Order: sequence, then C-alpha cells, then structure tokens
Amino acid sequence: MHKPGQATMFRSFAETHPLTLEDLRRDIVGLNTPVPLLDGTERPYVFLDNAASTPAFGRVLQCVEDFLPWYSGVHRGTGFKSLLATEVFDAAHDVVGTFVGADLSRNTVIFTKNTTECINKLANRAGLHRDDVVVSTLMEHHSNDLPWRKHCAVLHIGVLEDGHLDLVQLRGALKEHRGRVKLVALSGASNITGLCAPIHEIAEWTHAAGALLFVDAAQLAPHRPIDMFPDDDPRHIDFLALSAHKMYAPFGAGALVGPKRFFEEGEPDMVGGGVVEIVTLDSVDWNHPPHKEEAGTPNVIGGVALAAAIGVLQSVGMETVARHEMALLEYAYGKLRRLRDVILYGPTERFDDKVGTITFNIQGKHNGLVAAILGAEGGIGVRNGCFCAHPYVKHILKVTPEEDRTFTEEVRAGNKSRMPGMVRASLGCYSNESDIDALVEMLERVIRNDIRGTYQQDRSTGAFHAAGYRPDFSRYFRYHIPGVHGIRRPSEAS
Ligand code: ALA
Repeated sequence: MHKPGQATMFRSFAETHPLTLEDLRRDIVGLNTPVPLLDGTERPYVFLDNAASTPAFGRVLQCVEDFLPWYSGVHRGTGFKSLLATEVFDAAHDVVGTFVGADLSRNTVIFTKNTTECINKLANRAGLHRDDVVVSTLMEHHSNDLPWRKHCAVLHIGVLEDGHLDLVQLRGALKEHRGRVKLVALSGASNITGLCAPIHEIAEWTHAAGALLFVDAAQLAPHRPIDMFPDDDPRHIDFLALSAHKMYAPFGAGALVGPKRFFEEGEPDMVGGGVVEIVTLDSVDWNHPPHKEEAGTPNVIGGVALAAAIGVLQSVGMETVARHEMALLEYAYGKLRRLRDVILYGPTERFDDKVGTITFNIQGKHNGLVAAILGAEGGIGVRNGCFCAHPYVKHILKVTPEEDRTFTEEVRAGNKSRMPGMVRASLGCYSNESDIDALVEMLERVIRNDIRGTYQQDRSTGAFHAAGYRPDFSRYFRYHIPGVHGIRRPSEAS
C-alpha cells in the first residue's frame, strides 16, 4: 500500500535540474506562436491571460509522453503497467501535499478536476446545516461563494477602499457569530486585484473562534510559496485547493488537501467504483481517503502532469518566481501609471501581497472593446468582464444598488451590453518585460484612437467583434485523423 513520501520519481527532477526563469520561458509550449491580426499580418501571441489558464510547460508535456507508454488503470489492475501507474499516481498526490507544506501523515491529497470541484466537494462534505455560518469575503471567485450558499448562511466580509480585505470586520464577525461559524473560506489571492490575504494570521483567529480555515489557492499556488504549517500550529491551513490548469499542466486535474480524519467521516459526495472496501446489497464500507473521494477511474495523466509541473516550478524555486513577478509588476505599473486615461484598480505600488494580476479600464471605452482591440490588432490575449467575481468587481467599480438592479434586469432580458467590467492582464512565471511593452504600446494606440477596425457589440454576450476579422482557425489547428478530413461542426453536419 502507498505510504506518504514515495515521491522520488518527481522530486529527483527538481533536485538534479536547477532551472532559471529564462529556461521556463523557453519551455512554454506555444510561446511566440504567430497569430493573425485584423490587417492580415501575423504577430507572435502575447499571452497575458495566465490567471484564467496558463500554457503548458514543455517538460510537463514530455513527462506525459514518457508516462503514456506506461499508462494503465490505477488501484485495480495486477499487471506491471497498472502497478507502475499506481505508484506514480500515488506519488503525484504526495508531490502536491509536499509543495503546499502539508503533513502527509495526517492529511490527504484528493485529486479532482479543478478548484471549483474541490470546493463543491468540501461544501458537500462539511456537514453544514442551514443555521451554520461560513465566513467568506466579497473578494471571492463565485466558486468560493456559490457552493457554500447551497448549504448555509454565508457572511461576506467587506473590503477596504484600496481593495484589501477588511480584517477588523472579519475578526468582529468571528466574535459575533462564534459557535455558528464552521468555516472561514477565502482566496489566497484574488483573481481580480491579485491581492493576497494574510492567511496565517486569519488561521489563528479562525481557530481561536473554533472554526476551520479553507484557502482557495487557485491564484496563489502558481505565484507564491505556500506552507500549510503543522496541524497543531494555530497558523495551520485546514483545507486548501488548487488547479493544475493555472500551473502549466492543463490536463484536467485539481487538488484538495485536508485532514484524513475529516474525510474518514461520513459518506463521499460522489459514489461508485474505487470508493469502497466492501459492498453488500444493504451495506457499504468506505475506502480510506483519498480513494474514498476519487470515485471512478481518476485522471491519472492529469495528476502526473500536475506533479511534473510542480517539479519544474520547484526547480526554479517559488521564492524566485515570486521575486520575478514583483519586479515585473513594478515595471508594468511604472509604465501604466504614466498612461493618460488608464484607470488602474487595486494597489499600483508595493507588491509583496499582490500576485501578477493587473486590472484596468480606459476612460470612455468599454472593457470589451479594449479587450477585442488588444486581441485583433495587437495579438494580445487578455480577459475582460467580471471574471466570475461579480460582487467584487461591481464593488470596486462603485456600482450602486440601483444600477446593479438595472444591470440584473437587463441581463435577464438578454442584454449584457452594459454589464460593468474591467480588462485583466495577468502574468505567469515566464512573463517578461517584452510582454508588458507590447501591452503598453497597444494601450497607447487605443488611447489615441489609432485603431484600424470597426467594432460591433453583440448585446446578448456583451462581447465586441472587429468587422472582417474572421480568421480561418483550421489554418492554425486542424487535426487529421487518417481517413477523416477536418472536424465538422454539428451545424455543418448533413
Ligand atoms: N478563474 C479563472 C479566471 O479568473 C477562470 O479567469
């Protein structure tokens, strides 16, 4: 049976292959891929949407390719490939646990498909009652808000003028609702402002109030070192979730880390194969976590890829990644602050508690229009809108309750054209000054209206499209299955 610590096949890579940040940039799959522009030319893609999903590391792809000849079902088969795949997959769990500083003798790592699934699982498993309280915040991604709302009351702690979490209000709420608060659930770093919460201090207050702490580390884990601390340390993080697709391993895995004892209790949220010790027609004995919580055949490749990505990040060191990102933020904001008409959200200096997420608007221009121009005329990939965090974005944009009601009614009527929003440029560990320069250059053009295209908005989605910009995607990606020419869309099927 698998014992914690069997992670040598992954760990040895980090120890024997120290990498530099330049190595990471060279290792990005698809870096500088030429993409079509509105004027018919091509330009190397500038990837500034890393908070949504990062590209893959080449070394991760290589690990997947190396592993595929050994791929087999895990935990069930008796053949050599099954035994090997089981060993590697189990070890991948430990790599994740070690990466976040979990004590693996007392905690388990459960593989899921992403952070959203982790949080839904935790919410389903937490035994919450209607009159329990989960303390969350206004800063959350919907994934760390809506799953809790399904089960109990959620208290949303507010934010200060500069976007930081209101810690005084948080402490007050923990005191006021002591006994009812079962869990504090907050993001380690915001996907809007990049602001990081002081999670260890909050852990102390949470534990003193008799509650447990969950940290949504989807935006934190790719950018900063994380330490969950020993279980008996008041600063301990009880539960933590992360996503591989934001960590250079987009193969569909996520991970939830938490106490074994917690997951030993009760029934798994999803049942089926692999979660049981023995079943009779009227009884079920559950397996131990993580197996109990990974119903069905798990995403073995995804787990292995995540562990490989962690190995690559560790080969550079998360401290190095963090320092690089802070320096790049200094560089970016130094330039952005000088641009007339750019409205920047969140702190624009001092980045020790902010990951590489830059949100802004351009005075008088719809966020969707700016994002569309960056894409069609600059070959720059960003995201715009409310980023699955509507309450936080509307708060930052100072949307009044009356305006909020109007926007809600408009959306219900099928019109998203006036939804408030921002543009977001988000950095990865491989981002560099040339990416920022490309962004700033295009923003300067947008500001002085040096735009080639005519843009129209689709009211039903709110998105803007450049007239005449209809790239032939099949020129860029077309998978030829022998004997089958191209992929037909359902609408083209006869
Ligand atoms: N949560 C991801 C984002 O903020 C998808 O873009």
